[in-house]
Amino acid sequence: MKILAIESSCDETAAAVVEDGRTVLSNIVASQIEEHKLYGGVVPEIASRRHIESICGVVNGALEEAGLAFGEIDAIAVTYAPGLIGALLVGVSYAKGLAMITEKPLIPVHHIAGHIAANYISHPDLKPPFLCLVVSGGHSHIVEVKSFTSYRVIGRTRDDAAGECFDKVARVLGFPYPGGKYIDDCAKLGSKTAYKFPKPKMTGCEYDFSFSGLKTAVINLVHNAEQRGEELKREDVAASFQKTVADILGEKLSLAAKATGYRDIVVAGGVSANSGIRSKMKKICDSLGARLYLPELKYCGDNAAMIGAQGYFDFLAGRRADESLNAAATLSLEDISL
Ligand code: KG4
Ligand code: ZN
Repeated sequence: MKILAIESSCDETAAAVVEDGRTVLSNIVASQIEEHKLYGGVVPEIASRRHIESICGVVNGALEEAGLAFGEIDAIAVTYAPGLIGALLVGVSYAKGLAMITEKPLIPVHHIAGHIAANYISHPDLKPPFLCLVVSGGHSHIVEVKSFTSYRVIGRTRDDAAGECFDKVARVLGFPYPGGKYIDDCAKLGSKTAYKFPKPKMTGCEYDFSFSGLKTAVINLVHNAEQRGEELKREDVAASFQKTVADILGEKLSLAAKATGYRDIVVAGGVSANSGIRSKMKKICDSLGARLYLPELKYCGDNAAMIGAQGYFDFLAGRRADESLNAAATLSLEDISL
């Protein structure tokens, strides 16, 4: 079954054709980052406008790369939540129009479910149930993936998402938006033990995260150094910060794996591209005797191939949308569980 998938939840206009949830026939991503960089973050109004300009070309490009005509597609999948509402509406409206004129089924896909499903592409033998750490620009979750369409969120961030924390720290260190990749590269040249940053103590849910204290500690360190006229080695700050994030994520994931007994562990979302986090997860899984699944780097960030992958499993489970489909800025994975 060939699914044409569309993703426009943030600052990437993306389309892909995916066969049977696992094989990517094409994958086109048009990034708006260069424009948002000027403002130090995504400007929602600009994002919507760029999506509307790009979407036709991106979808045509995905069909062309797959060597298919509209008529050869079996269904259309689209990200409808969560994300920037104006951005989501561009993809949703386009997909609805397309489904109507081609009379193909329309499948609404949850963005985070899509990030998780990126791993079904990278690991053709991966099947739920498994435990998944989702770390993106907007979300940090530990999720029990019970089936291809059913989820239980057992840990979540109480404040900033991991990616947000990377981006804010990157900004104070003078890197452009989005700064996660710059921190990752810079950290390779620094000492992980140069600074000791705080790790949050969570009361209530031991699988929850908090990154605002860590973010504030790095910002204070940089500002205090500036005020005293001292020069900081930003490679050391980046390496120590990245190690602290990896340790926090690793400790929580390890606790959750021990408590739930899962030995298949998956990482998903834009921050899963981080080299320090990838190697920390490997160490943790080795010590737990667990198998680790990481998405290929090209499927870590926002893309439509992951939406096509999840769309296939949603389709098999009977999920469909009609012309009344709307977008939603927030929507929990648990609320869409079948
Ligand atoms: O999943 P994603 O593409 O978008 C959302 O759904 O939010 O994640 C984007 C986030 C940004 O915060 C970006 O800085 C971060 O992923 N990111 C990284 C790396 N590559 C992207 N963070 C740390 N290390 C990286 N190598
Ligand atoms: Zn995303």
